[in-house]
Amino acid sequence: MTNTARPLKVGLIGSGAIAREQHLPYWRELEEEGRVRIVGVCDLIRERREKESALCANAVPYADYKKMLQKESFDIIDVCTQNRVHAPATIAALNAGAHVLVEKPMAMSSRECDAMIAASKKAERKLMVAQHMRFEARAEKLKEVVDSGALGEIYTAETKWLRRRGIPGWGQFHIKKESLGGPLIDIGVHMMDLCVWLMGCPKPVAASGKVYRKFGDRKDLFNADWGVHYPAEEFDVEDYATALIRFEKGITMQMSVSWAANVHDEIEDMYILGDKGGIGINPLGYFSADHSSLTRTTWDWLSAEDGHRREVRHFCECVEKDLPVMVKPEESLRIQKIIDAIYESSRLNKEVMIK
Ligand SMILES: NC(=O)c1ccc[n+]([C@@H]2O[C@H](COP(=O)([O-])OP(=O)(O)OC[C@H]3O[C@@H](n4cnc5c(N)ncnc54)[C@H](O)[C@@H]3O)[C@@H](O)[C@H]2O)c1
Repeated sequence: MTNTARPLKVGLIGSGAIAREQHLPYWRELEEEGRVRIVGVCDLIRERREKESALCANAVPYADYKKMLQKESFDIIDVCTQNRVHAPATIAALNAGAHVLVEKPMAMSSRECDAMIAASKKAERKLMVAQHMRFEARAEKLKEVVDSGALGEIYTAETKWLRRRGIPGWGQFHIKKESLGGPLIDIGVHMMDLCVWLMGCPKPVAASGKVYRKFGDRKDLFNADWGVHYPAEEFDVEDYATALIRFEKGITMQMSVSWAANVHDEIEDMYILGDKGGIGINPLGYFSADHSSLTRTTWDWLSAEDGHRREVRHFCECVEKDLPVMVKPEESLRIQKIIDAIYESSRLNKEVMIK
C-alpha cells in the first residue's frame, strides 16, 4: 500500500547538522521539481526548527514530533535526530502512516530494530536506514563487479577508517545514553554496512571485538580541525574499536575504526577478497592475475554526486512508485546485531555468538 498522490508530504524530525547539510537541501530540490512538499520541520531547539522551516516554502516548525504527526498527515518522515530518538520517532511516524527514512545507526540496540521492523510491517510502510555510502558511484561500480561473479568465492574482507584527530565536537556523539557508542556506531556502521552489502549480505554468526577510550575524555585533547565543544568528563563512549566478525560459510571481516589514533594520516580503506579477484576502495579498483601477470581495472571517471542526494531521491522514488528500498531494514538489523555483539565481546573479553 502506498500513496502515489503528488506532491508527497514530507516532514523532518531533527534539524541539526546532517538534516541541514545533507537531507533538507535535497528535499528542497525535490520540492522545486514538484515531487514533494516539506510541510513540517521538528526540532527541540527553536532556532533550528524556525531557521530550517523558513527556508522551505510550506513548512511549519514544530517542537514536538508527536504533535506534528497528529496535526498533519505525512507520506514521508525523515528522522535525523541523535540515535536515542531514532526508534521512538520512527515507530510513531510509521504508526501515523508515513514511510520512514532514518539516519544511521538504525537504533540503540537490535531489540529496537526489531520493533521498528515490526511497526513497518504492521503499517505496511517502507523503512530505510540512511546508509548513503551504498549510493556513491564507487559503491555502485564495485557492486557491479561483485555481481558479475568476477571475485569468485569471497572468503574475507578488511575495512578500516582511522581518523588521526577527529572527534565530533557537536551534538551528542560523545554521550553513551544518547548515541550508544563512538566511532563504531558512527563511521564503523558505514564501513561495515558497505562491506557486508558488497559481500552479498552473508549472515553474521559471531564477533570478537575490543573498544578503547584513550583520547576523548582528556582535558588536554588536541582535536585538530574538529575543535572540542563538550566537557571532557561527559565523554563516555569509545574512541577506537576493532573486531573480527565471522559469517556463515567461513567468511570473515576485520574492522577497525577510530576518531583519534596516532597514525601517519587519516586512513580509509576496504578490500574484499575472492579466489578469482578482489576489490578495494583505496585505490579503487578490481585486482586479479592472469597466467603471467598481475592485473587491475580502475575507472578514469566516476560521478562525484553526493551519496546523500542519491539516497534521498531513491527513497522518494520508492514511495512514489512503490519500489523496494535499496537498504533493507533486515540488513540494517544484522549490522546492529554485529555492533551489539562487538560491545558485548569487548565487555566480556570473549567471542560472542550472533543469533
Ligand atoms: N550519514 C552520515 O554520514 C551522517 C553524518 C552525521 C550524522 N549522521 C547521523 O545523523 C543523526 C544526527 O546527527 P547530527 O550530526 O545532525 O546531530 P545534531 O546534534 O547536529 O542534530 C540532531 C538534532 O536532533 C534534535 N532532536 C533531538 N531529539 C529530538 C526530538 N525528540 N524531537 C525533535 N528533534 C530532536 C536535536 O535538537 C538536534 O538539533 C545521528 O543519528 C548521526 O549518526 C549521519
